[in-house]
Amino acid sequence: MAVNAVKAHLTTLRAHRNRLSRTTMRDMFAGDPKRFSRFSIAWDRLVFDYSKHRLDAGAFKALLDVAKTAGVKAKRDAMFSGRIINETEGRAVLHTALRAPADERIEVDGQDVIGEVVKVRRAMTRFSNAVRNGKYKVSGGAVTDVVNIGIGGSNLGPAMATLALAPWHDGPRTHFVSNVDAADLAEVFKVIPPETTLFIVASKTFTTQETMCNAQTARNWMQRKLGRQDVGAHFAALSTNLVATRKFGIADERTFGFWDWVGGRYSVWSAIGLSLMMAIGPKRFGEFLDGAYEADTHFRTADYGGNIPVIMALLGIWYRNVWGFETHAVLPYDNRLARFPAYLQQLEMESNGKRVMMDGRAVTADTGAIVWGEPGTDGQHAFYQLIHQGTSVIPCDFLIAAKSNDRLSGHHELLLANCLAQSEALMLGKTLAEARAELKQAGMPEKEIRRLAPHKVFEGNRPSTTFLYERLDPKMLGTLIALYEHKVFVQGAIWGINSFDQWGVELGKALAQELIPMVEGKAKVKGKDASTAGLLAAFHQMTSR
Ligand code: F6P
Repeated sequence: MAVNAVKAHLTTLRAHRNRLSRTTMRDMFAGDPKRFSRFSIAWDRLVFDYSKHRLDAGAFKALLDVAKTAGVKAKRDAMFSGRIINETEGRAVLHTALRAPADERIEVDGQDVIGEVVKVRRAMTRFSNAVRNGKYKVSGGAVTDVVNIGIGGSNLGPAMATLALAPWHDGPRTHFVSNVDAADLAEVFKVIPPETTLFIVASKTFTTQETMCNAQTARNWMQRKLGRQDVGAHFAALSTNLVATRKFGIADERTFGFWDWVGGRYSVWSAIGLSLMMAIGPKRFGEFLDGAYEADTHFRTADYGGNIPVIMALLGIWYRNVWGFETHAVLPYDNRLARFPAYLQQLEMESNGKRVMMDGRAVTADTGAIVWGEPGTDGQHAFYQLIHQGTSVIPCDFLIAAKSNDRLSGHHELLLANCLAQSEALMLGKTLAEARAELKQAGMPEKEIRRLAPHKVFEGNRPSTTFLYERLDPKMLGTLIALYEHKVFVQGAIWGINSFDQWGVELGKALAQELIPMVEGKAKVKGKDASTAGLLAAFHQMTSR
């Protein structure tokens, strides 16, 4: 029977919350000069600071007890060893095998998987090298542009990482097309030279509507532009479905496989990372994997109390289930991590947005938080007002590098100061007395002070975590992603849900399929609710004008 481990500890956790409601982080910092060292972890090239949370030793211990009750360690070991933990799909969950050392042995159904992983990575490396050094030729010679066509996990990972690692690009230009909205592909068509472009069709299933539509349009466009039918050399595939890749006409030597034990949103480490490998080269791609492996080793070996992903997960549970905070903001002070919040949206929300437990019974506590965010400092001038003074409390993750990858003097100091200022302001806030004193100091008359001061009060006591890392490089990016992956795993283990299926996206897909002939006007609108039917009628009326 699936168990939600939070439930057993809820009374204790609520008692801690009630106790902590009577104090503030400001007071806790004032009363404990060692608070930062007590509630932070300096690990490798990363400092994980969780001292700005509504937490003390007692509450922290109670949270660690939740992880113990959930048996996180045993569940973690089951995942790493290749047990079928994705029960609703009957699959192992082994994205960690994709970054394990070549001499490790992990079996699924008695078959070693590492050998297969190494074989595919070697093939990817050969192909990437040939594309990067110009030995692989398409109609117009060496490849200048690579376009990854894929959606969800077959897009977000490589697109996010390729942007994040732009300073390491020394390969062909890379482009990403995901949306079935023609605008996405049309904009890329404007900038790519057809004679020297390679399309990579990335789809685990090779049946995803959007990707197949984009891939077919890309093939037709190439045939038209090049004036020939055979454009095979301009296409490669990344998929587990060899029957479909062959049917599409992509030769096996340009098809890079993976396995059903790699979930879409965990697939950037697999063949799905080919576009990234082409951009930064196989060596840097290897460092990206190494960074993730370091996080795996940390997750497997550190005690709960010193385990970064376990703490990330417990803080999420603390706020979601005990304080009732619904959303979680990811705020990278690192412009090249612009797509990181979107990547984490899929990772966290597709994994833990679940309403039943592993055994099918309804969950008894809220699950996955709503994840959102944008890079700082831009966000400061848009939505931070609500984070500081709105009525919802939004726990935030701040991410920032100690060293910039760009040498424009003065910028990084300003960026870092802003990042630190935000978490400080959220934690400290500003009392009415402080607001009044400030206005008085500025020489404002008492009547004005009374009118303005309430608007200048910041409640404070708003929680945040800061990740301060040495530099955003391939290895660090791998580490950061894997830490979040394990956070998601721990939360799923505690809630007793399956973090590795995604049935929630199926209904919309099926209905879209059913609606296509009605949209095309090839079938009568039948069996639809009044709103859907009314919108279809209006659509047909508008398009007939
Ligand atoms: O959105 C549902 C989903 O199945 C994701 O989990 C997956 O990453 C995405 O669609 C794309 O799937 P595929 O790689 O099979 O095209």
